[in-house]
Amino acid sequence: MRIVLLGAPGAGKGTQAKKLIEKYGLPQISTGDLLRAAVAAGTPLGKEAKSYMDKGELVPDSVVLGMVEERLGQDDCKKGYILDGFPRNTLQAEALDKMLASLNMPLTAALSVDVPFEDLMKRLTGRRTCKACGQMYNIYFKAPAKEGVCDKCSGELFQRDDDKEATIKKRLEVYTAQTEPLIGYYRNKGILKTVSGTGSIDEIFKKVTEALGLK
Ligand code: AP5
Ligand code: MG
Repeated sequence: MRIVLLGAPGAGKGTQAKKLIEKYGLPQISTGDLLRAAVAAGTPLGKEAKSYMDKGELVPDSVVLGMVEERLGQDDCKKGYILDGFPRNTLQAEALDKMLASLNMPLTAALSVDVPFEDLMKRLTGRRTCKACGQMYNIYFKAPAKEGVCDKCSGELFQRDDDKEATIKKRLEVYTAQTEPLIGYYRNKGILKTVSGTGSIDEIFKKVTEALGLK
């Protein structure tokens, strides 16, 4: 399975990808997570990326494409993968198609997780993530037992720098202008699947696995 997860910021791409990893062992390739790791490590790439991420804008295509190409070349991707947050615009989608054509490994499906915009602000401002294990919480919908502490590993929870209201607004605008058109791109290729991302995380996961034809 080689899957692209599409969806607005806060739609639940990362949440559903983590459940797919747990159940099917596919690696998740999240360009957002890769970029945040580079920011945390203070690499030159991370420093460049941070200035775009803090404004809610896309990081330049050349930076992201290099990162993805390197990651797809690693051994664990031979059995398939879940791309989360990539591609983000038509140029990236076309570049991905070219990369995969040269490897003779086309995408199996592009899955769009559809959530009304009015639900996204609360999901994003309420998100908290564990520094140690990456487990995600939400102070409104999925609160940890003890504030600021991970239920799974007792790690410290943090709030993403770009989960501020003004930055979220910009991210949603960028999504509408640049990423949403990819729904049509993959529909034209005949590999688009759509699920509603409203409801409980487990209900959505059931729809995700059904749409992808997984058991
Ligand atoms: P990225 O990290 O990809 O962020 P995003 O697309 O804005 O998406 P999010 O991670 O915010 O949302 P998600 O859909 O994963 O939702 P989640 O599962 O966390 O990108 C960040 C930045 O990096 C970009 O702005 C850009 O600058 C840069 N970047 C990344 N990729 C790039 C690329 N390819 N090209 C250029 N630049 C790039 O869920 C959100 C919250 O909701 C959580 O708290 C969760 O617990 C909760 N939740 C989930 N499901 C439910 C539910 N069913 N009900 C209630 N709450 C729920
Ligand atoms: Mg995410």
